[in-house]
Amino acid sequence: MGLSVVILAAGRGTRMKSEVPKVLHTIAGLPMLTHVINTAKACEASEIFVIYGHGGQQVQETLAAQKVTWVHQKQTLGTGHAVAQALPHLKATDQVLVLLGDVPMISKETITRLRERTPKDAIGWLTAHVKNPAGFGRIVRDSDNNPVQIVEEKDASDLQKTIDEINTGICLVPAKYLKDWLPKLKRNNSQKEYYLTDIFSVAVQHGVSLVTVSPESLIDVQGVNDRIQQAQLERAYQARIAEDLMRQGATLLSPDRIDVRGRLTIANDVKIDVNAIFEGEVTLGAHCYIGPNVYLKNTVVGKNVVIKANSVIEDANIADDCEVGPFARIRPGTKLARGAKIGNFVETKNADIGAGSKVSHLSYIGDAKLGKAVNVGAGTITCNYDGANKHQTTLGDDVFIGSNTALVAPVKVGKGATVGAGSVITKDVSANELALTRAKQTNIKGWKRPKKKLKG
Ligand code: UD1
Ligand code: CA
Repeated sequence: MGLSVVILAAGRGTRMKSEVPKVLHTIAGLPMLTHVINTAKACEASEIFVIYGHGGQQVQETLAAQKVTWVHQKQTLGTGHAVAQALPHLKATDQVLVLLGDVPMISKETITRLRERTPKDAIGWLTAHVKNPAGFGRIVRDSDNNPVQIVEEKDASDLQKTIDEINTGICLVPAKYLKDWLPKLKRNNSQKEYYLTDIFSVAVQHGVSLVTVSPESLIDVQGVNDRIQQAQLERAYQARIAEDLMRQGATLLSPDRIDVRGRLTIANDVKIDVNAIFEGEVTLGAHCYIGPNVYLKNTVVGKNVVIKANSVIEDANIADDCEVGPFARIRPGTKLARGAKIGNFVETKNADIGAGSKVSHLSYIGDAKLGKAVNVGAGTITCNYDGANKHQTTLGDDVFIGSNTALVAPVKVGKGATVGAGSVITKDVSANELALTRAKQTNIKGWKRPKKKLKG
């Protein structure tokens, strides 16, 4: 039987108090709906239907790259009505897994468990025992402990409200039953909605077997209705990632002070200090140290690299044995070859820094190519922009740039050349030459400083 996944995402999400549709609110930098879709894909769903409604255009625009089938629910008349919108697309032989767009941490493990424990032709329902069942549908069982009904909080008797087994909203149902039963749902309940949960008692009437399955973890089935629940799930998600990193051998100096918004791949003996943030795809080589408050995005970091505190690094490639920071800003297109050093208050952009080269203090290196073992003195600026276009600066191997130099691009300094401090270099310098542009120093003997005039 093929697995079709129907993701309910049409609700408004009023309690988020937001102009952004609820399912686009993020966990770990990705929309909640993206998490659910990714999990559905990981379960090898043959087709994924997303039922959209409120803010649908924005949702589809944001997730345009996803291979899913969008199904419009024009009016949000309840979860049963929502699933019914997908009926024309479903094959009668399919198994249908219903997921919720606002339950983002549903895991492949829990779904696999639900699938494995639900016999063919039976209905599997993910339920959980919780401390505070308020607000959820409750699983009603008969005297033999068989589940017979789901009753919504708003329709429940006082006795039913004491039941602590709740409907997570996630279920696995053969499409043939949905095709039979959903069109017949009534909305004679307190919310005047078509409840998907009503098929539970319909199944009992038809003698179709019902299996209740519990999730691997309660986090898997936690929904997000407001910003507080979103923040709780964000922390839970980050805690999972932190544990995972530690299991892979990372040292996290404070596991609850790391944020990974994307994918962080690590080699052995990586050490990460507090408040590091990783975005997009980041790879760290063996024995790296990431200092406090470092921000790293879409960057590959080699072995034995030290990134010191408060460095901001984006779209860069850092080879083995490099040292960066503290307070370095490495912008897109920066490549540091083996053993390069970028020090404090240095900004780089589109810069190819050769092996063992050093830019240690207070510099801007943009649109530049530096050879090996170049030393760039403090306060050096590549003047790469003429007000209209960007130009390239090229420094050969072993070049020495004195402090406070302006390199007016396009300009080339040949291998082994030296530039004296305070120079403004507008012409190419050949290999091994010394370039000086500052005026000669004059010392005036017996010079008297002006004195303040006395008042009155
Ligand atoms: C639903 C369940 C309840 C369960 C709870 C778990 C029903 C009748 N109730 O209640 O038993 O404990 O989820 O969170 O199923 N949605 C649509 N279209 C609609 C209505 C809802 O797409 O017309 C979507 C929402 O966007 C949301 C999900 O379905 O993702 C659940 O809807 P919600 O209104 O939150 O259902 P609850 O009343 O919380
Ligand atoms: Ca809800």
